[in-house]
Amino acid sequence: MECRFLLIWIIYLPQVTSSTKQDCLSKRQALSSLRQIQKLLSGQEAAYLQSLRTMNKKLNLLQNTLTRQVSKLNETCPKLEVPNNGRKLGSISAVGHEVHFLCEKGFELVGSETRVCQESHSWSGQQPFCRNINECAKSPCLNGGTCVDDVNRFVCMCARGWSGTYCQNSVYSYWTSQTNSSFSRQPHCANMQGSTQCTCDEGFQIAGRDNSLCQDFDECELYYLGRLPRLCAHACVNTPGSYRCTCPPGYSLRGDQRNCKDVDECASRQHNCSRDELCVNTFGGFQCVQPDCPRARQNTSYVKTSLLRCERSPCPVDNKACTQAASSISFSYLSLVSNLSVPRVLFRMSAARMHGDSLRFGLLGGQGRSHFSVQRSDRLTGELVLVSRVLGPAVLEAELEMTELEKRTVLARFISKVTVFISQYDF
Ligand SMILES: *[C@@H]1O[C@H](CO)[C@@H](O)[C@H](O)[C@H]1NC(C)=O
Ligand SMILES: *[C@@H]1O[C@H](CO)[C@@H](O)[C@H](O)[C@H]1NC(C)=O
Ligand SMILES: *[C@@H]1O[C@H](CO)[C@@H](O)[C@H](O)[C@H]1NC(C)=O
Ligand SMILES: *[C@@H]1O[C@H](CO)[C@@H](O)[C@H](O)[C@H]1NC(C)=O
Ligand SMILES: *[C@@H]1O[C@H](CO)[C@@H](O)[C@H](O)[C@H]1NC(C)=O
Repeated sequence: MECRFLLIWIIYLPQVTSSTKQDCLSKRQALSSLRQIQKLLSGQEAAYLQSLRTMNKKLNLLQNTLTRQVSKLNETCPKLEVPNNGRKLGSISAVGHEVHFLCEKGFELVGSETRVCQESHSWSGQQPFCRNINECAKSPCLNGGTCVDDVNRFVCMCARGWSGTYCQNSVYSYWTSQTNSSFSRQPHCANMQGSTQCTCDEGFQIAGRDNSLCQDFDECELYYLGRLPRLCAHACVNTPGSYRCTCPPGYSLRGDQRNCKDVDECASRQHNCSRDELCVNTFGGFQCVQPDCPRARQNTSYVKTSLLRCERSPCPVDNKACTQAASSISFSYLSLVSNLSVPRVLFRMSAARMHGDSLRFGLLGGQGRSHFSVQRSDRLTGELVLVSRVLGPAVLEAELEMTELEKRTVLARFISKVTVFISQYDF
């Protein structure tokens, strides 16, 4: 019985058998040895488990990384088309990557310039395409020429009597410059060290079959072709060696010889308005006006107290329709240039003195009402504001109303009718 312990000892710890090849050990010794072995084993077991856990952790990590890499391979968006007449920049269609689009010269991009491959594996934005730029959109052809759009360019079909890229030259002026001797001059030549050097007067350039002539060059054409800055506010006329600016009727050339100044026909008595009419100077012209008071109705009548003002006649007792009608109607005329920047205060209406406790301002109507709004500038003043750009020629009207109130009851109403004459040109 005693030797069973020895047997186990031998099996588990062969290296110590030599020291135990003696007789059987005492039970106490065997127990102590067993405890040592158990301790050793549990130590080994713990170390073994620890390394297994570490190994497992490493395997998990590796698996995760691999899974992520595999799924990333699949995180792409569908392939994008290259637009016709355009290019696509960027070829990676993985999540988070961007692709850019460009169009060739003469085309403009419609749609998204940049698209991003999103988490949802779809592209942001819209597939763009390249549209032929309509070079005719800006109406480049002058003097009644018809524009024909072509890729990257346009062609002007000129009306009779006009020529040039933009139909800017009257055939007559071209013909004149070629035939009228004022448009060509003799060059100044000098013999320098065996070779002849010729120069032309300012505004002329060497021309002719054998460079024997100085021909005027057309500054106006260079301007129209965009190679010179704006020469004239309105029109350009080529002259021998130079050019001159002209203005439309109703304007005169300013001192700078480039810009146009409105002629005040009213002040300079160049108008034909009658005695009962008021002459209103406009940009490029004038208007004769003679505002009328409203016709009498429902016992409400107006009398003209001045050329631009109507006052209500006294009302019959207890006639509500009459007392509710405007006490006065005044007329104003304004002249503006075309395409004026906005917002712009055009007109102010205010009460000289106030009988009630508050004032209210509003727009009643009038042709072109949508171009206006009303705002208050102080307790007694309302302002008529132009809120959109208007291209002339045009005539706009607005009716501005001022209401005087006492405890929310209307005491009196006043109306200003404003007429705005907008010229054809922006000067
Ligand atoms: C990749 O995506 C396609 C379609 O979304 C799916 O059918 C396929 O199983 C995915 N492959 C992997 C490896 O996730
Ligand atoms: C030639 O041009 C000059 C300058 O523009 C002009 O004064 C003259 O009348 C022209 N002559 C003819 C014959 O057209
Ligand atoms: C005034 O002159 C303009 C041209 O400037 C003309 O159209 C209009 O008929 C004239 N009116 C009168 C009353 O003569
Ligand atoms: C106008 O006034 C007269 C008396 O002054 C009266 O007979 C008539 O009914 C009034 N008309 C209206 C439309 O108020
Ligand atoms: C009006 O003015 C704006 C801003 O200055 C400009 O861009 C636009 O071309 C003008 N329109 C016309 C018809 O002149």
